[in-house]
Parts: sequence; structure tokens; C-alpha cells
Amino acid sequence: MSVSVPARLIIAIDGPSGAGKSTITRMLADRLGYVNIDTGAMFRSVALMAHRAGIDPQDESALERLCAGLDISFDRSCGGCRVLVNGEDVSAEIRTPEISLLTSIVSTKKVVRGCMMRLQRSMGERGGVVLEGRDIGTVVFPHAQVKFFLSASVDERGRRRFEELRARGEDVTLEQTIAEVEQRDRQDLEREHAPLRRAEDAVEIDSTTLTLQEVLTRMESIVMERSSLSES
Ligand code: DC
Repeated sequence: MSVSVPARLIIAIDGPSGAGKSTITRMLADRLGYVNIDTGAMFRSVALMAHRAGIDPQDESALERLCAGLDISFDRSCGGCRVLVNGEDVSAEIRTPEISLLTSIVSTKKVVRGCMMRLQRSMGERGGVVLEGRDIGTVVFPHAQVKFFLSASVDERGRRRFEELRARGEDVTLEQTIAEVEQRDRQDLEREHAPLRRAEDAVEIDSTTLTLQEVLTRMESIVMERSSLSES
């Protein structure tokens, strides 16, 4: 059941991988009757198509040409649960460990970030959206009315990712998964363009010991507060 939020706000949820952003973003958007936008899936789509086309992830001109020719969208008939590239459903293929690692390289490239930023702005500028990513509150929508930074300890994020991968039948170990989460954290934090950092005006929520419902309840009450402020 959705709650009544009169204002069509832009809500940004940033944070490191495995903090629970995807699930929470979907749940929050659902509660508010908003559209959810998984920007990680967009970067993953670029990485997948680069991989298929045999593009060297360091070749920025090739990445720029690739990006310009991609039509990335979300299937709204299932609340944005499927990501489509040029009409093809790539939702499962973009989530393998190999594509995850390639994404963290491709997403450091300025041309790719610029291309995705324009697309994300055009998808979200009318409001009524919850966007999840790394740089939504800092770069893509610095004037978003509500910003969250969702974090959790590395071990807990690794454990959650491990369970997700195992449920999908991937043959991985917990140690390997935690190491991959650490590696992606480093790449996200240390990159030159739009590194992961908390916007000064973002509300930080550490989800290490919280249930999804507890995180959702906190977020909802902050959204309601901001919504009444933007109305008055
Ligand atoms: O959220 P995710 O794990 O699906 O993100 C996949 C990769 O994309 C991750 O390495 C960080 C990158 N990413 C990014 O650089 N900027 C975003 N707004 C979203 C994701």
C-alpha cells in the first residue's frame, strides 16, 4: 500500500555496494508510488555491452561511441525490475561477478559518467523518483530534496552479497565475496571522477544491524518531514 506524498520529490540513495540500496529503493518507491531508478544497472549495462563488443575498458573513444548508441530503459510493467538495452532484457547477465568487476572499471571513465548522468537526469528531472547509486546526491541531482547515504560494515555487505550470489547458483566463497566487495569499495572511493562520498546534506543510515523494515520506516519519516517542508 502506498502512503500519501503530495510533492513529487527527487530522492537520492547513495552508498557502497551491498548496503541494501536496491531493495530499499524498490520498497521506498513502491510505498510512495514513485519510480525507482537503479543507476548501477545502467553502468552494468554499459560494461556488458562493452564486453560483448570486445571493447578495451581503457579505450574511452570506443566507450563513448558505444554509450551514444545504447538505449537503456527499465521495464515499468514490473516496477522497473528489468533493465532493457536496445529492447533486450539483460537483467540477469549484468549481475555476474565478471561483469561486476568490469563495471567498476568502466564506471571510472569520464565519458561513461557523462553519458549516464545525462540519461539519469532526463529520467529523474520531473520528480517522483527514487534513484540509487554512488553520486546521485553529489553530482547527478545535487539539489535533490531528500538524500540518504546507506552504509553497512564490509563484513555484513560481503555476507549479504554472498547469500545473493549463492541463491543465484554462483559458485563463490564468503572470503572471496568479501574481498571483491573491498576491491569495489576501493575503486568506487578512489576514482578520479565522481567518487563515492556522502553529500554533506545526506542523512546517513548504517544498516549493519537494522532490518529492511527498520531502514524503510526511518526513510519514510524523513521523506514525510521533507515533503511537508517543500509544501509550506
Ligand atoms: O550498485 P551496483 O553494485 O549495481 O553498481 C555497480 C557498479 O557501478 C559499482 O562498481 C559502482 C558503479 N556505479 C557508479 O559508479 N555510479 C553509480 N551511480 C552507480 C553505480
